Amino acid sequence: MRLLVLGGTVFLGRAVAAHAVAAGHDVTCVARGTSGEVPAGATLVTADRDAPGGLAGLDGDFDAVIDVARRPSHVRHAVAALGARVPHWVYVSSCSVYGDQSTPGQRATEAPVLAPLPLETDDATGENYGPAKVACEQALLDAVGPDRAMLCRAGLIVGPEDPTGRFDYWVARVAEGGEVLAPGTPGDAVQWIDVRDLAAWLVQAAEQRLSGVYDGTGAPIGRGDFLAGIAQGVGATPQVTWVDQEFLAAQGVEPWAGERSLPMWLPLPEGAGFLSRDVTDALAAGLTPRPLADTARDTLAWLATGPTRKPWAGITRDDEAQLLTAWKVAHPA
Ligand SMILES: NC(=O)c1ccc[n+]([C@@H]2O[C@H](COP(=O)([O-])OP(=O)(O)OC[C@H]3O[C@@H](n4cnc5c(N)ncnc54)[C@H](OP(=O)(O)O)[C@@H]3O)[C@@H](O)[C@H]2O)c1
Repeated sequence: MRLLVLGGTVFLGRAVAAHAVAAGHDVTCVARGTSGEVPAGATLVTADRDAPGGLAGLDGDFDAVIDVARRPSHVRHAVAALGARVPHWVYVSSCSVYGDQSTPGQRATEAPVLAPLPLETDDATGENYGPAKVACEQALLDAVGPDRAMLCRAGLIVGPEDPTGRFDYWVARVAEGGEVLAPGTPGDAVQWIDVRDLAAWLVQAAEQRLSGVYDGTGAPIGRGDFLAGIAQGVGATPQVTWVDQEFLAAQGVEPWAGERSLPMWLPLPEGAGFLSRDVTDALAAGLTPRPLADTARDTLAWLATGPTRKPWAGITRDDEAQLLTAWKVAHPA
């Protein structure tokens, strides 16, 4: 297969290109070349998708496209240049497209999505991210139709080379051992996908010309089992202390991501739908998540190589110790 990866120089796009090369495909990646490098064996074509004609120089002789775009104009430019010539398209969308993030167990084919970003906005940062991904999906479907497109709404993508630090926080923290502050309760749902498994499935979707809409994430498990799976993978035996969300909110700890946050934690019940999606369809269509312990072990090994990104998720060990002390004072055993 001659595969065009729109992206390919960082995290998921790079993993897609690497997997496709390993599977024997002829892989071309398009990026500006400012964020990173394509994997060995892939060809980088430098182009700027901000320009309407940015992809005009490509020959268009591809069997499939896999696109990680965030800005709707990037998708519009791509389908204008290549939509008529490339038979199959795989678009990496996001579970942030959904309009209802509080109802657990929703399916991709049935869940309502947000209103698309207005044409004139074309920004995918902050609150525009979900609406921008909806607009990207619509731009693709409008151009090539549902039979030639697979929409993969990714959940939290984790593993080696993750630039966000969200999963890494828990891997590093559990590996360090001792008393670990965990948010909420052991039964709260957590959901993720290893970047390599998502990449493999996206390439398979291109190979098989899979169409339709899917959530690209693994099946949810409880946070207690999540921490236990990480502990197994990194060979640690942490002592977990569960701290309720009201206490954490009162202490100013942020959910999900960012500075002074507890990553992969969302306030309930408002966020109960985000990490508990019903992924029966994706698993039936070939998505094959590896054991959590393997992802944790490989992520720890990658962290040991000293990646240079600035960590921006989690709390410091001092902060954690102070929060645990304050929790025990407020809730004596
Ligand atoms: N991380 C998560 O947990 C998560 C969850 C749900 C969904 N997603 C989705 O998953 C995908 C992640 O993709 P990713 O890991 O490959 O990272 P990314 O940051 O989305 O990668 C963007 C790619 O596009 C290229 N690019 C950006 N602007 C460009 C331009 N103007 N012209 C040409 N190329 C441009 C970048 O390279 P250059 O900068 O060198 O051009 C890079 O290769 C995204 O679609 C994201 O929305 C992520």
